[in-house]
Amino acid sequence: MSRTIIALDFSSKEEVMNFLKQFPEPVYVKIGMELTYACGLDIVKEVKAMGHRIFLDLKLHDIPNTVKGGMKNLAALGVDIVNCHCAGGIEMMKAAKQGILEGTPEGQTPAKLIGVTILTSTSKEAMNSELGIEGEVIDTVIHYAKNAKEAGLDGVVCSVHEAKAIHEACGEDFLTVTPGIRLAGNSVDDQKRVATPALAKEQGCDMIVVGRSITKAADPYKTYLQIEEDMSNGTV
Ligand code: C5P
Repeated sequence: MSRTIIALDFSSKEEVMNFLKQFPEPVYVKIGMELTYACGLDIVKEVKAMGHRIFLDLKLHDIPNTVKGGMKNLAALGVDIVNCHCAGGIEMMKAAKQGILEGTPEGQTPAKLIGVTILTSTSKEAMNSELGIEGEVIDTVIHYAKNAKEAGLDGVVCSVHEAKAIHEACGEDFLTVTPGIRLAGNSVDDQKRVATPALAKEQGCDMIVVGRSITKAADPYKTYLQIEEDMSNGTV
């Protein structure tokens, strides 16, 4: 199975379809708020009907009852992965899980639920001074990951640099899904804690999320295949 999830950060269905046309086989894609807020959840159904697997990245964060209701409706879409913010706390994460279990159509496998730890666009300085969380990013990330595990989540979203420590703290089966991936020579853009696919492989990341390094590449499919290869043999 593909270990690269392509972030479909587009604002129209036309852009999505033109992009996916370049892929001769089904891939794992991430649909986030940019596309969902532009096209509604129908785009999820359409991309799924094309055979692609879907990580629906809407990062829920609200009171437990609201998150539970939201997750129930998302689970009905039959997506493969959904997520919520660990910062919402253990009770909220448990409610998210419950919503998924209640909303999954009978006979179908419930979507995996992963928790967003500290965004890969957040630096230590911003975490300390703006979010008011003292210490090192890694300590908060591990703390959030342990909470996520306690709440029954399947894994977390974190940076490549934290994946190994999370597996040590939460077990090898606990999924680490890592954005902030950049190929050598790519622009870092708004991301702060970035790494290459090869480093992701070396650090034991289960899946990587790649947006602009693929969507803005001259040949997105070729770049995707190269990244998949790097994730398989760890050379870059
Ligand atoms: O273009 P780029 O590869 O930076 O895109 C990364 C994707 O992963 C974006 O869709 C972003 O929303 C998402 N993401 C992230 N950091 C997180 C969680 C999700 O960059 N912690």
